[in-house]
Amino acid sequence: MTNADLEKIVDTSDEWIVTRTGIKERRIAPQGMAVSDMSVEACKKALEASGLKSEDIDLLILGTVTPDYKLPSTACVIQEKMELPNATAFDIVAACTGFINGLSVASSLIETGAYKNALVVGSEKLSSIVNYKDRNTCILFGDGAGAAVLTASDDDSGVVGTFLKSNGNLRDLLWIKDGGSANPYTDDYVFTGEDKISMSGGDIFKVAVKQMCNAAVKIINDAGLTSDDIALVIPHQANIRIIEAIAKRLKINMDKVFVNIEKYGNTSAASVPIALDEAYRAGKIKSGDYVLMVAFGGGLIWGSALVKW
Ligand code: UT7
Repeated sequence: MTNADLEKIVDTSDEWIVTRTGIKERRIAPQGMAVSDMSVEACKKALEASGLKSEDIDLLILGTVTPDYKLPSTACVIQEKMELPNATAFDIVAACTGFINGLSVASSLIETGAYKNALVVGSEKLSSIVNYKDRNTCILFGDGAGAAVLTASDDDSGVVGTFLKSNGNLRDLLWIKDGGSANPYTDDYVFTGEDKISMSGGDIFKVAVKQMCNAAVKIINDAGLTSDDIALVIPHQANIRIIEAIAKRLKINMDKVFVNIEKYGNTSAASVPIALDEAYRAGKIKSGDYVLMVAFGGGLIWGSALVKW
């Protein structure tokens, strides 16, 4: 879906969207394609790249806010479609930081020795929860999926550290008010848009820049490194202006920051793994590199992960 397509639906312009967000296009999954279907495509590619077999996977974690069903977890649907007989599977609801939260949980569980090979997925069909009458939000979001395999190893590569934080006081800055157990659909429910995403963009913008910087600095400091040691930053792709502001504050040149927002828009939990995959396949990550991932989303919630490749 291009900006020109959106110009036909809401009062907006390609010029406004590109200047304010950096987005030119976003992908919209067809009707009948669920989050589990997109996830399976990503999981297959990740598994192939890892050289492992489906029987080797003992842990599957999916970050999503657009599950196939309210019950069971979509991770269980993926488990069936991917045929992962030896895995336990569950979802994490952490909005745009879903993949980083998943990475944190998976690496921690692998470190305990209880699990060996984890599939961590970030996947969203945001088009199913976007209000296409609301120009404040509909121009931002897209659908997509990304996945990574984490495996136990004795060398010094892998997840160096993760940092996770949230502030539930600010949950109504980005939420879907109705349809859950707090405001369930009743027989006389009237659909007025509260069943879709609503967002206070400007308020979130400020918190996003501040807390993504804090999360990045914390994880770099904890590892005893400086920004100069970071080979590549994979930020959540929410707004090019947020990404540039973070790079500036961290004193990291934009050529070390991976950006693909122009093609996909904001894909929430899928944003970081899609960017990671594209960066890896484009040869931008080599063995021994420190890769910093940082994200921010509804909760409000934010987090970072530092990986030595
Ligand atoms: O995924 C993580 C969570 N989300 C985010 O990180 C999003 C963070 N926020 C943002 O990216 C930006 O705040 C937005 C892109 C959402 C909005 O950009 P902004 O520069 O903060 O614009 P604004 O909300 O202050 O709106 C400026 C003007 C307003 O008009 P008035 O009141 O000044 O007359 C809006 O009504 O732009 C108007 N506007 C639009 N105009 C054309 C808002 N949306 C649109 C639109 N097209 N799509």
